[in-house]
Order: sequence, then structure tokens, then C-alpha cells
Amino acid sequence: MKKLFGVLGNPIGHSMSPVMHNDLFSLYNIDAEYLPFLVQEDELRDAVNGLRALGAGGFNVTVPHKSSIIPFLDEVDELAASIGAVNTVVNKDGKLIGYNTDGLGFLKGLDAYINKIEGQKILVIGAGGAARAIYFTLAKEKPMQIDIANRTLEKAVQLIEECPYSISSKALTLKDASSELGEYDLIIQTTMIGMEPNITEQPITLEYLRENSVVCEIIYNPLETRILREAKSIGATVQNGIDMFVYQGALAFEKWTGIFPDIQRMKENVLGQLG
Ligand code: ATR
Repeated sequence: MKKLFGVLGNPIGHSMSPVMHNDLFSLYNIDAEYLPFLVQEDELRDAVNGLRALGAGGFNVTVPHKSSIIPFLDEVDELAASIGAVNTVVNKDGKLIGYNTDGLGFLKGLDAYINKIEGQKILVIGAGGAARAIYFTLAKEKPMQIDIANRTLEKAVQLIEECPYSISSKALTLKDASSELGEYDLIIQTTMIGMEPNITEQPITLEYLRENSVVCEIIYNPLETRILREAKSIGATVQNGIDMFVYQGALAFEKWTGIFPDIQRMKENVLGQLG
């Protein structure tokens, strides 16, 4: 019998996950279908129970439900619980188990850009949900240091205080991060600056960026944000958000099917959808 998978969110119409996962189901001859589900906040509990009742194999969760879904699940793994957000749910014999593959997806995508995370001095720009998933996941990997720069300094301070893994960290203003940029091996931009409608903005200045640094973005639409364009012109290595998106999906697919899918094919699929 065909297995049901999907993604719950609001809005959901532009999600690229259905095409990406359905292509993988057909590639690996799995009789399953992945659908987008538009779910209102006050109907989230019913939606989750409905998917459980229908015997769905699993599903993804996106904005704005990643945190509010937690009480409706039967179990949440340790990393997702510490992040306080779930993006992937697996139905294990009727029990819905929540995971977070966003941070791990980012980490896997980094493999092609840096040798190892140990010894790296990292700057995370932003202190929202995406920054939290990336910061906690990277902190577990024991780099030398991870600092957080944010427009609202208190939020960066709070994020550092809440990290359950022991890591050397300090909170910075965006201005201080700009002037100390030469210190960092890896810079990760996690805010929505660079995306519509903030397409011409960038959160920090790059005057002190080192040529041998790596600058990563979580945004993939547009593929090249202003910060990546400038970083590239300085000679730094840049990575857009496609890798994180594709790897978070690959890790979810692996949890549902036991197969780690063809990343290159997924990337081409997503790039094709972006047009
Ligand atoms: P997400 O879950 O996508 O990370 P979020 O939790 O709303 O979204 O977090 C948004 C992040 O982008 C925050 O770090 C926010 O900074 P504040 O904590 O000061 O609000 C940052 N951000 C959003 N718009 C910004 C802007 N115009 N300038 C600087 N930072 C911005």
C-alpha cells in the first residue's frame, strides 16, 4: 500500500520538498507519496493526530510549526529537544518521534568546504531559530570557538546561556562582528537579510574578511546574496543555502527509508525548481 509522507507549514505552496522527495521515492522504487499540507496553528494537533491515524510514514515540519509541534509528538530526540524545534517526524510503529536535521544538514553540507570542524573559529550571524539549530549542532562537534553576532545583543547572550554543550562563545553586536571579522575561519549568515524584501542589505561589513575564510549562507533564494557576492569578490570561499536544504532533506529521507539518497540529484532537482 502507498505510504503517505508530507510537510506541514504555513505558507507551504512554495515548498520544494514535495518534488524533491517524490523524485527520490520513484528513484528508489518506494511506493510512497509526499504532499504539502497547509496547516493553521490552531489545527496543528488535529493535523498531527490525523497523520498518525492515517499511518503516515513520517513528515517534515516547517515554519511556523517547528516548536509548537513538540507537545503533540510521542517522543523527541535529545538534539531536537535542546534546540526546541523539530523539522522531521518518523512514525515508528504508531509512535511519532521528532528529530531536527536542520543543524546536522548544515554540518554535512560543510564537509565539502572545510576539512574538520575541530580547531575552527566560527561566527554565527543571527540568534533566531535557524541560528539555534546550527549553533547547538556545531557546538557538539567541539570547534575552538563559536561566537554569535546579533542585532539584538541580549538574544545572542541568551542563546549562548542556553547551549547545553560546553563551548567557548561570546555575544557580539553586528558592528563589533564587522570589525573583528578577521578572527574567524568560518562565518555563517542565518538571518533573512539578503532575501526579499531585504535583498540589497547585508548584516555586517566585510572590510576585514580574510581571503582564506569560508562564508556560508542559509538562504538559497536568491542563490547568491549580497554578502556572498562581496565575500567572493574578496577571494573568500562561499557556500549558499542549497546544501543545508538538500542535506536536511536527505537526512529526513534516510530516517524514513534507511537510504541515504543521491545528493547531487537532489541538488539538481532543487536548482531546477528554482529556475
Ligand atoms: P529564523 O527562525 O529564520 O532564524 P527568527 O527566529 O525570526 O527567524 O530570527 C531572525 C533573526 O534574523 C534574528 O537574529 C534577527 O535579529 P533580532 O534578534 O535582532 O530580531 C535577525 N534579523 C531579522 N531581520 C533583521 C534585520 N533587518 N537586521 C538585522 N538582523 C535581522
